[in-house]
Amino acid sequence: MKKLFTTNNPEDTICLGMKIGELLKEGNVVALIGNLGAGKTVISNGLCSGLGVREDYITSPTYTIINQYEGRIPVYHIDLYRLKNSSELYNLGWDEYIYGNGTCIIEWADRAAEMLSEEYLTVNIKVTGTNKRQITLQAKGATYKSLLEKVR
Ligand SMILES: Nc1ncnc2c1ncn2[C@@H]1O[C@H](COP(=O)(O)OP(=O)(O)OP(=O)(O)O)[C@@H](O)[C@H]1O
Ligand SMILES: [Mg+2]
Repeated sequence: MKKLFTTNNPEDTICLGMKIGELLKEGNVVALIGNLGAGKTVISNGLCSGLGVREDYITSPTYTIINQYEGRIPVYHIDLYRLKNSSELYNLGWDEYIYGNGTCIIEWADRAAEMLSEEYLTVNIKVTGTNKRQITLQAKGATYKSLLEKVR
């Protein structure tokens, strides 16, 4: 199941992220895909805010790979841009995040596709203009299909 959205500025993208974030629960995984500067961190801000994280602006976890926030549930913001080999993730206790009691938001998730859980929500962001983005949400698995039905 897929849903397509167009946003015309960063605020719209944050707003879409918030709507999704409000629906996220323990153990959910959001896989963010898109080029450099597409808006993965921007939408992560919306997701976090919908999850009840109170931070003015979250940035990518550049040196740590994983940043943890406390929202209504734990939020693990992960950035795999600098990942060289997906086996590095085992050393981080990856499974405890992916199958843990929080939500994982993963930038550059395509770099470790084989490390993802069986079911997750993919957010694919495409730059279609200076301030325009085409955002495709794709649900893998029943949990995410029912979540996606609620996003409008
Ligand atoms: N409609 C839009 N939605 C999201 N971001 C937008 C939009 N229009 C312009 N932008 C700008 O695009 C940039 C997106 O940057 P962001 O850091 O979120 O990208 P990213 O995908 O996380 O890149 P990276 O791979 O480097 O982490 C921001 O500067 C933002 O202001
Ligand atoms: Mg980013």
